[in-house]
Amino acid sequence: MRKIRTYNQISSRGLDRFSRDSYEVGSEIAQPEAILLRSHKLTVDQIPDSVNAIARAGAGVNNIPIDECTHNGVVVFNTPGANANAVKELVLAGLLLSSRGICEGMQYVQALTENDPAILNKEVEKGKKAYAGVELTGKTLGVVGLGAIGANVANMALELGMEVIGYDPAISVEAAWRLSSDVQRAENLGALLAKCDYVTLHVPAIEATKGMINSEALSSAKQGLKLLNFARGEIVDNDAMLAALEVGKVARYISDFPSLELLGNDKVSLLPHLGASTVEAEENCAIMGANQLVDFLENGNIKNS
Ligand code: MLT
Repeated sequence: MRKIRTYNQISSRGLDRFSRDSYEVGSEIAQPEAILLRSHKLTVDQIPDSVNAIARAGAGVNNIPIDECTHNGVVVFNTPGANANAVKELVLAGLLLSSRGICEGMQYVQALTENDPAILNKEVEKGKKAYAGVELTGKTLGVVGLGAIGANVANMALELGMEVIGYDPAISVEAAWRLSSDVQRAENLGALLAKCDYVTLHVPAIEATKGMINSEALSSAKQGLKLLNFARGEIVDNDAMLAALEVGKVARYISDFPSLELLGNDKVSLLPHLGASTVEAEENCAIMGANQLVDFLENGNIKNS
């Protein structure tokens, strides 16, 4: 019997779809050959010598001690694309939330206490004016990071009638450009920020990207930028972001990574890392990760897709 240890948050429905007679899969398994995990921050001492491979049910691998794994010959997989649809849909929600006064309008109506229908109608009319928004069609979206998620987001934005500009700091333009030719290329981050009404981040948290949205980058941005971060919190320098919000350089920051400095700022909307949190994405990631491990253990294949 081969053994895979799982950590918290691995979808049980995903594992049901995976189930194989020759595998024992679960959280209590001793001496596993492989580990499958989602958000658990894995430490080196939690990786027994018996482990040959680890799969992250998600895109980022920053909860795995990669250098030590490489040093010890442990193969690390992620599950590219398995949660891309979930993130894409939440980016759409972020674009709409930052454009249409949805939250503000709901809070306004919720707070109305008027019993007289005529006065209530007047209040509604007031709200209708106060929370009028702008449309996405015709606006420019910058997509920073052109992996599976960024590409999905770029295609969705084109379908909405947006202009789309892409940039990826880690892969060459030629390698990245498996996108529609309707997506324009930016040579660098500053060039992208200067042209965009909205920017959405989809890069991993690596040395080249940590703090890349800093005061220098934000100084190139178009006034009134709306920035969406469903990638990783560390990519944005929060002090620089607060300064840019203060002067209106950034009109709205939507982040899937709450931090104390940002709490309470009414131009910031924070979510509890919901990007990949759908039933479907959790299942897809679990099944893809489990299959990658099996293919590696049985056939020695290292296929990160
Ligand atoms: C990812 O890296 O894809 C996300 O962090 C997935 C998750 O929420 O687990």
